[in-house]
Amino acid sequence: MNPLIKKTQPFNDQKPGTSGLRKSVKYFKADNYLQNFIQSIFNCLDKLEGSTLVLGGDGRYFNREAIQIILRMAAANGVGKVLLGQGGILSTPAASHIIRKYEALGGILLTASHNPGGPDGDFGVKFNISNGGPAPEKLTNAIFETSRQLSEYKIAEAQVSPIDKLGTFTLEEMPVEVIDPVKDYADLMESIFDFEKIRELVAAPDFNACFDAMNAVTGPYAEEILGKRLGMDKHALMNTQPLMNFGGKHPDPNLTTARQLVAKMYAPKDAPQFGAASDGDGDRHMILGDYFFVNPSDSLAILAANARKIPAYQEGIKGIARSMPTSQAADKVAEKLGIHCYETPTGWKFFGNLLDHNEITFCGEESFGGGADHIREKDGLWAILFWLNLLAVKQDSVENIVRKHWAEYGRNYYSRHDYERLPTKQADEIMRHLQSSLALLPGTQFDTLRVEKADDFTYIDPIDHSISEHQGIRIIFDNGSRIIYRLSGTGTEGATLRIYLERYEADIRKHDLDIQETLSELIELSVKLAKIKEITQKDQPTAIV
Ligand code: G1P
Ligand code: ZN
Repeated sequence: MNPLIKKTQPFNDQKPGTSGLRKSVKYFKADNYLQNFIQSIFNCLDKLEGSTLVLGGDGRYFNREAIQIILRMAAANGVGKVLLGQGGILSTPAASHIIRKYEALGGILLTASHNPGGPDGDFGVKFNISNGGPAPEKLTNAIFETSRQLSEYKIAEAQVSPIDKLGTFTLEEMPVEVIDPVKDYADLMESIFDFEKIRELVAAPDFNACFDAMNAVTGPYAEEILGKRLGMDKHALMNTQPLMNFGGKHPDPNLTTARQLVAKMYAPKDAPQFGAASDGDGDRHMILGDYFFVNPSDSLAILAANARKIPAYQEGIKGIARSMPTSQAADKVAEKLGIHCYETPTGWKFFGNLLDHNEITFCGEESFGGGADHIREKDGLWAILFWLNLLAVKQDSVENIVRKHWAEYGRNYYSRHDYERLPTKQADEIMRHLQSSLALLPGTQFDTLRVEKADDFTYIDPIDHSISEHQGIRIIFDNGSRIIYRLSGTGTEGATLRIYLERYEADIRKHDLDIQETLSELIELSVKLAKIKEITQKDQPTAIV
């Protein structure tokens, strides 16, 4: 085959963020934008020729077109074989598993996760390495540098690949194996959890559950695993048809965006005992009980505390990691278990080394992410199945499990306040102002709060000793409370300032307070310290999670 060499102009804005390159669809569709980024990835992979790559996405608008382009580019760049999810579909956790299982060089995942889809929505490209996890910063930086100088890309002649039929076809000389996107992943889940026990729970006449796939990628996974293998009936599975624009919904599992599920779970009468949702690409999870919300930071802590109840973790867990802004609930569990709890920067890529070197078994983020060492991505359905397995073993309600956990470990009241779509200039000014006030903060008393430590979080990877700086401003008080500030690395419009607030309460008599009320002193102080009102003229955050 003679690949076509196309001349192109470099872009200077293809820097991958917290989780790959995310832009609006309009960017990706125009002017070789996708082609340049893919070629930049290929140019940074030493062993690309003859290698196996995994390819798939969350099914959002432009997924199918992008798959056609990437296949032609893979063939022209000498890739040995592509494993493609049927119809171009692979959830992020399934892609991670498939890369590992078939020992691929890596995978290209087409997703903008929980960002809205459709012609006016977002698109994204992520490269995962051979351990199944997101490319580390060293590689994403190299890709970015390459993209800034790229002058040509390679692509095979225009042709349409049959991506919907299982089996193998060849594109030029490159075999493309179209695989079932669900089966391998479903088998993996069955090897971790006690499916028989969960089946019994699901079949019990007084138990009702529901799952909202939000018209995103987990639909087919839920139908196979929750429906066929575990016996949940059709009515329990909501919005399982993946749609290119997610049915106009925002496929982010939280109390504001998962409206349909929340209405069901908070119904005054006959609410199911268990409710769950996942996001666009299937790596996030939200857990609800009857009129009850499980904070994701608590979810990580509870899963860790109960690990031994699950077949795969009967021997116990080796360690836990949480992203820095995630509440310290998991730290309490680690302390009791006598294991280490690592604190990493935001983004799943920072867990990879710890998982690869058996330092940790579980990891999680406050942003509805939880996962374990079975793959190298966060895993929504894994967390949901974990909770179902736990309910089956404990024969207790979601709310009771959480309350008993708080009684034992104390409660970490927690909330995140987001200021979205800020002009970049304002967001930078806030961060600069905070950075410049750090040195003076330690020892300062604000009403009942005394600052113990204030810094700009730097992470030194314990395995490869790589250093990641400026990962968020931390203000830590002597009672363990924290205010954290950081700018989002996944947004596509202006800047998003995230303020994370946390207060620990050991006293069981105070475990039923209003969250925002309990955090109010910290909230007020966080606004004051960052000069939010002066700089943004905003009185309220745009979102409270
Ligand atoms: C957000 C979350 C972060 C998560 C990422 C990808 O990133 O905060 O925890 O890893 O999405 O799902 P952010 O927009 O804050 O950079
Ligand atoms: Zn996601």
